[in-house]
Amino acid sequence: MKKPARSNAPRIAVAILAAGKGTRLKSRHPKVLHEAGSLPLLQHAINAARQLVPAADIFAIVGYEAERVQQAVAASGIGFVLQREQRGTGHALMVARAALAAYDHVLVLSGDAPLIRPETLARLRDQHLEKRAAMTLLSAVPEDPTGYGRVLRRKKGARVTDEVVAIVEEKSLTPAQRKANLREINAGFYAFAVKPLFAHIDRLTTDNPHHELYLTDVAALLGKARERVIVLATEDATEVLGINTRAELARLDARLRDRACAALMAAGVTIFRPETCVIDAGVTVAADTVIEPFVQLLGTTQIGADCRIRSYSVVRNCEIGDGVTLLPGCVMTDSRIANGAILGPYCHLRQGSDIGEGARIGNFVETKKTRVGKGSKANHLTYLGDAEIGERVNVGAGTITCNYNGVGKYRTVIEDGAFIGSNAALVAPVRIGRGAYVAAASCITEDVPADALALGRARQTIKEGWAKAKREAAGKKDH
Ligand code: UD1
Ligand code: CA
Repeated sequence: MKKPARSNAPRIAVAILAAGKGTRLKSRHPKVLHEAGSLPLLQHAINAARQLVPAADIFAIVGYEAERVQQAVAASGIGFVLQREQRGTGHALMVARAALAAYDHVLVLSGDAPLIRPETLARLRDQHLEKRAAMTLLSAVPEDPTGYGRVLRRKKGARVTDEVVAIVEEKSLTPAQRKANLREINAGFYAFAVKPLFAHIDRLTTDNPHHELYLTDVAALLGKARERVIVLATEDATEVLGINTRAELARLDARLRDRACAALMAAGVTIFRPETCVIDAGVTVAADTVIEPFVQLLGTTQIGADCRIRSYSVVRNCEIGDGVTLLPGCVMTDSRIANGAILGPYCHLRQGSDIGEGARIGNFVETKKTRVGKGSKANHLTYLGDAEIGERVNVGAGTITCNYNGVGKYRTVIEDGAFIGSNAALVAPVRIGRGAYVAAASCITEDVPADALALGRARQTIKEGWAKAKREAAGKKDH
C-alpha cells in the first residue's frame, strides 16, 4: 500500500477560553453555559470553530464548574484542558501547552462571544499565515470601547502600520493614553504560531491591577523579541461583542434572533413584528409562510410553504408540511403535521404526535405518541395518548384515552370513519372498529366491532315531580 504523502499544510488547533466564572453575571452557573439564541455561549464558539477544523483539533479550556461545562458540550466531540485555578487568559494558554504541542498554529477564541462568524475566523487564519506572523489579533472599533483592551499600533513616520506594539487593558491605560482616546479595541480573538508563543509566554507577569497573567501582554513580549505581531480589523464591530453582564446577554440574544429572522425574510417568509419572534438558527421555513407576532420556532423545526403560524405558538423540533394553519397558542414538540392540517387555538402536541393531511386538532386538545389520520377531527377538550386514529374519524368533545393504569401504558386504536361521542372514556387497550359509533359519555372497556354502536353508561331514569316535592318540603315556594 502507498503511504500517503506528508502534507505541508500547517497543523491548526483552536483553543476556546472557557474557564472563567463570569463574576459580572452574578450567577451560580458558569458564564459559558448561559444561553443566547437557545444555545450555550460555548456552543456558538464550537460551532464557528467546527467550520475551520475537525472537532478533534478543538480544545476548550475549562475551570469553573469544569465537569458541567464538559458535559454540556460533550456531544460535539471536542477535547478539554483543565485550568484548575483561573489565573488569567495568559495562564489559560500556559496550561494548554501540552495539548497544543502537536500543532503549528492555534486560533484562540473567547468562549463568551457568540456572534463571531466562521468567515471572520478564516480571514484571521489566512492573514496570520500569509504574513507569517507570530501573533495576529482581531480588532474592532465599537461605539463604546469601555472595558476592552486597546490596540497600540506601530507608527512609521506619519503612517500607522498593521504592526502592534502592545495591547493595554482599560485599567492600565496611562493618563496620556486615556487622553489619546484610543478607539481600536482588542476583540479577544487571536492566531498564534505555537513555537514563539510558548517560547515567550513564561515571561508574563502579574504586574497589573487584577494580578492576573494576561494573554494580551504576549503582544508586547513577542514584539520586543522581534517577532511579528499584527492586527486585522473586523468590518463589523458587533460580531466580536462579548458578554460580561445580563444586559449584554439580552442584547446579543436579540442580535442572534434578528439574524435568523432576516435570513428567513430574505428567503421569502413573511414575519410580522420580527423583533417579538424567537427563531432558532437551525429552523427552516419555506416561502410564503406567514409568521405572526410573538411566535417561537425552536430547535430543528421545519415548516413548509403557505402556512400561517399565528401568535403565541411555540413549536420545538417539529416537521410541518405545506398550507398548515396554527391558530393562536399552539404548543408542540417533536411532532409531525401533514399538509393542510388546522390546529388550535390552544392545543398541545407532545412528543410523537403525527397529524395527518387536513386533520383538525382544536382547542384544549392534548396528544402524545398518537397518529391522527387524514381528515380526522378532535376539535375540543380531548386527550389522545398512545393512540392510532384512522381517517375521517370524529372524536367528540371531552374524549379521553385512558392509556395509563398506574403501572403500564396501553394503546387505543380507532379505525377509519368511527364516531366517538362526546365525553367518552376509552380504557386502553381497546379497539373501536371501522365506522362504529360510541355513544356520548360512554366508558368503553371492551373492543367495539365495526359498524356497531357501543353504549357504556347508566340508563337515564326520570322521577316526575321530585324536585318540586323537595322544594316544598324545605318550605320554598318556587325555584
Ligand atoms: C479580554 C481581554 C481584553 C479584550 C476582551 C475582549 C485579557 C487580559 N483581556 O478581557 O483585552 O478586549 O477580552 O472581549 O485577556 N478565561 C479563562 N481563564 C482565566 C481567565 C479568563 O479561561 O483564567 C476566559 C473567560 O472565561 C472568558 C475569556 O477568557 O471566556 C475572556 O476573559 P474575560 O475575563 O472575560 O476577559 P475580559 O475582561 O473581557
Ligand atoms: Ca469578556
